[in-house]
Amino acid sequence: MNKLNFTVDENKCVNCGQCVKCCPQHIIKIKNNVPKIYNEKVCLKCQHCMAVCPVGAISILNKNPDNSALEGFNINSEDLLNVIKSRRSCRHYKHENVSKEKLDKLKEMLDYTPTGVNCRGLYFSFIDDVEVMDDFRKHVYEKFVKFIKFIPFKPAIATKLVKQIENGKSPIFFDAPHIVAVSFDKKSVCKKIDYVIALSYFELYAQSMGLGTCWCGYADGIFRLFPDVRKKLGIPKTHELGYVMLFGEKDEKYTRITQPIPYEKYSVQKWDK
Ligand SMILES: Cc1cc2nc3c(=O)[nH]c(=O)nc-3n(C[C@H](O)[C@H](O)[C@H](O)COP(=O)(O)O)c2cc1C
Repeated sequence: MNKLNFTVDENKCVNCGQCVKCCPQHIIKIKNNVPKIYNEKVCLKCQHCMAVCPVGAISILNKNPDNSALEGFNINSEDLLNVIKSRRSCRHYKHENVSKEKLDKLKEMLDYTPTGVNCRGLYFSFIDDVEVMDDFRKHVYEKFVKFIKFIPFKPAIATKLVKQIENGKSPIFFDAPHIVAVSFDKKSVCKKIDYVIALSYFELYAQSMGLGTCWCGYADGIFRLFPDVRKKLGIPKTHELGYVMLFGEKDEKYTRITQPIPYEKYSVQKWDK
């Protein structure tokens, strides 16, 4: 036993060496026909050793390999492509909660999103209830209007937003019933990308469930202005806000996909020295 609790069931181990091959830190070696971890300080805790073992002989971090069963892998890649192509930014939502079942699945999915060196420094703040979201929206709009009126230099976009809010519109959060804000540990190695990946996965999984989502650039700016809002969202002091996404059941239906202007894509044909 060691701190990682890396254990091998010697009765099961078939000595295939897959754990040695797949360890990204190259710290597993076979000794006396049994895999062992050396230099556990550099272990990424990625659990590849446990996941790759064909006979479920390896446990790490007290995880039982029997709870790691792959539930089939029959994704139709065309379906995934259709989700990507038909994903739209949603700005019209039903005033109702997303079911607990969908919410739980979305939250669980986030645990599987990758982070640089597996540092897992993300923190997710949710508004799960449509009424809490209504109070939040009202409070943030009031604060925003007051703030913009108070400052001497008013950016044109802020003046426009204030006018819309005063006219009873909701130009930032629309009528979304839910929000997720993801923040990152300031010490994380890949802090500028980890949260983008997590929200991208979140968006696609949510849209595959028929939900609407919208990256909320304005909210991002506003949360940065108001530390008390960040505090109420439970964002730890060790963390910095990454980005914000609205989501909920859609009150709009697109019957076609869009036809984006293709990006330029360059392929290197030959590598000249
Ligand atoms: C990083 C990012 C920030 C965004 N912020 C906002 C926003 O604050 N308000 C909004 O209405 N749409 C926002 N959007 C949505 C874009 O405007 C949207 O992607 C664009 O209109 C194209 O529509 P589509 O996403 O349906 O293809 C944002 C999108 C991204 C990727």
